[in-house]
Amino acid sequence: EMGGYDYFMLKEIAEQPKAVADTLLGRIDPAGSLTLDEVRIPPRVLREVDKVVVVACGTAFHAGLIAKYAIEHWTRIPCEVELASEFRYRDPILDPRSLVIAISQSGETMDTLMALRHAREQGSRVLAICNTNGSTIPRESDAVLYTRAGPEVAVASTKAFLTQLVACYLVALYLGQVRGTKWGDEIRAVVRDLAEISGAVQRVLETMEPVRELARSLAGKDTVLFLGRHVGYPVALEGALKLKELAYMHAEGFAAGELKHGPIALIEEDLPVVVVVPSPRGRSVLHDKIVSNIQEIRARGARTIVIAEEGDEAVVPYADHLIRVPATPTLLQPLVTTVPLQVFACELATARGNEVDQPRNLAKSVTVE
Ligand code: F6R
Repeated sequence: EMGGYDYFMLKEIAEQPKAVADTLLGRIDPAGSLTLDEVRIPPRVLREVDKVVVVACGTAFHAGLIAKYAIEHWTRIPCEVELASEFRYRDPILDPRSLVIAISQSGETMDTLMALRHAREQGSRVLAICNTNGSTIPRESDAVLYTRAGPEVAVASTKAFLTQLVACYLVALYLGQVRGTKWGDEIRAVVRDLAEISGAVQRVLETMEPVRELARSLAGKDTVLFLGRHVGYPVALEGALKLKELAYMHAEGFAAGELKHGPIALIEEDLPVVVVVPSPRGRSVLHDKIVSNIQEIRARGARTIVIAEEGDEAVVPYADHLIRVPATPTLLQPLVTTVPLQVFACELATARGNEVDQPRNLAKSVTVE
């Protein structure tokens, strides 16, 4: 049932291009409009939404952090993202015009379920993004957009995460379409690129051998840091989470702009630091800033592992290891930059002799609060 792979996680990483394509299937029409009729919240209600709140845990929370950038940019609706376990205890401000998005692979995570129940009690609509048909979270929500990753067996979430991102992009674009906000050439171009993105994910998978080699060479390290900016920041958090849960290593993700506010003190000789570099096109100011960050940490002895777009030459002089990903629109970049981090964590875990599919102390679905 592992289809020739040694671990479910490897199989599930390899299934990502298909999972992404399946999640898009039938949801973008040939004219480039979103057809999300399955989201049974009437357009009239969606046009009234004045706040979006995403609740989720772990990896699904990281998908939510990325969704915020897409939702605010494409719809101009304010969006908050909150750890489901913190949400209801804070007495959050919700009303019938708030749209709450609950993201969950399993559909059974108790923290997320309690957050959505709390939201519904306040009269808010809840849209679930879920990978498990008929599970509790979609059953208790007003509407559901299913991700179509197929069953995810490995405890560490991989293909479910990529499909959660796709679902978040679809929801953001759909909200933009329904409300007529920013619905112009930029959106049309993004929809076109999204429709093609599974090919880019496939291309990344085909170039992962050097990443595996690098991971094996770092098996004796204690700490790995991850830096990113903009949507690359949640990707850095996700890379660190994967490394903690699989390799049992100390790993931390930072927004690169925060380096100078503290974390730069951690940099020491030969410390591996993974940097997720934003596209030099689009928000190029951020690109230039992160290139300076790479220079700074390298000058302090860090071993820089740089994930950058094909054709980005500015990073070359400062990258001890360079991992290339295909060029994508800025907001879609996490779909390609996450993949090397999954492979990296999986290979490091194996090299350290860990059980990749069943990390210690973890369960696939967390049905207690
Ligand atoms: C990390 C991981 C967990 C889950 C989290 C939420 O690899 O798998 O962090 O993402 O427990 O689970 P779901 O999505 O089932 O609600």
